[in-house]
Formats: sequence, C-alpha cells, structure tokens
Amino acid sequence: MLYSEKVMDHFTNPRNVGEIEDAQGVGVVGNAKCGDIMKIYLEIDENDIITDCKFKTFGCGAAIATSSMATELIKGKSVKEALALTNSAVVEALDGLPPVKVHCSVLAEEAVRSAIADYYKRVGRPIDFELPEEHDEEEVVEED
Ligand code: FES
Repeated sequence: MLYSEKVMDHFTNPRNVGEIEDAQGVGVVGNAKCGDIMKIYLEIDENDIITDCKFKTFGCGAAIATSSMATELIKGKSVKEALALTNSAVVEALDGLPPVKVHCSVLAEEAVRSAIADYYKRVGRPIDFELPEEHDEEEVVEED
C-alpha cells in the first residue's frame, strides 16, 4: 500500500484542526509548486510551553496528515523542543511517506518554525534559528 495506516488515520481523522483565537504564534507557509498552504497556530504559556496547537491546511492528504502529526508532536513541548522537530521525525512518526510526498512533511516543519518565529517577534526575542529561505513574499500566500 502506498500510504501507511498512520498516514491514512491522520488524513481521515486529523487531530487539532482549527484555529486558536489570540494565538501567541501563527505561521503560514506555502509550497509554490503544488500550491498547498499550511497554517499553524500556537498557544504558548509563560514558561515557553506549547499548551495548544491547531492547524488549517489547504493541501494534499499527506500535507494534512503531516500537519496533524506535527501538531501532536509539539503539543505540550517547549518552544525549543518544537524547533528541533524535523520533517523526518514527522515522517517517521507516520511510518513513512512515499518519496514524492516528502515535501509535504517539509511544509509541516516549516509551518512550525514560522509560527515560532512569529511568537519570537511578538515577544521581542531575536530569531536565532533559520527560517526556510524560499519564503519570500511571493511564495507565502497570506489568507488575510
Ligand atoms: Fe504539496 Fe503535498 S502535494 S504539500
């Protein structure tokens, strides 16, 4: 089978779908080639712990499954731990993705980083980690 049971599970029954009003960090990333867009909302407490996390993904099934898994993996973690989340960790947690779908997991990693960057900006903390380079204005489509 092309997709693992876990991928199918997170695709058909995605966790943490939605928005967080007054989120402390919001990240939006897009992939210019496939046109898919992923938005991640973070609720972060005063100890830098991600107490809640939601996502909205306008994209393929693998993008939905990876966003769902990524939110599950960073919920309850510190911002630092969430920054260490790699797309391969997401793929591994989903028991693999077909090679042509690996870029979807990259989108999930980038969405998390971009939401944390937004949080850092809001609290006036320098962004001491790398943001994906290809995120210039043209490629990231804001919906509002
Ligand atoms: Fe673009 Fe999956 S095909 S994110």
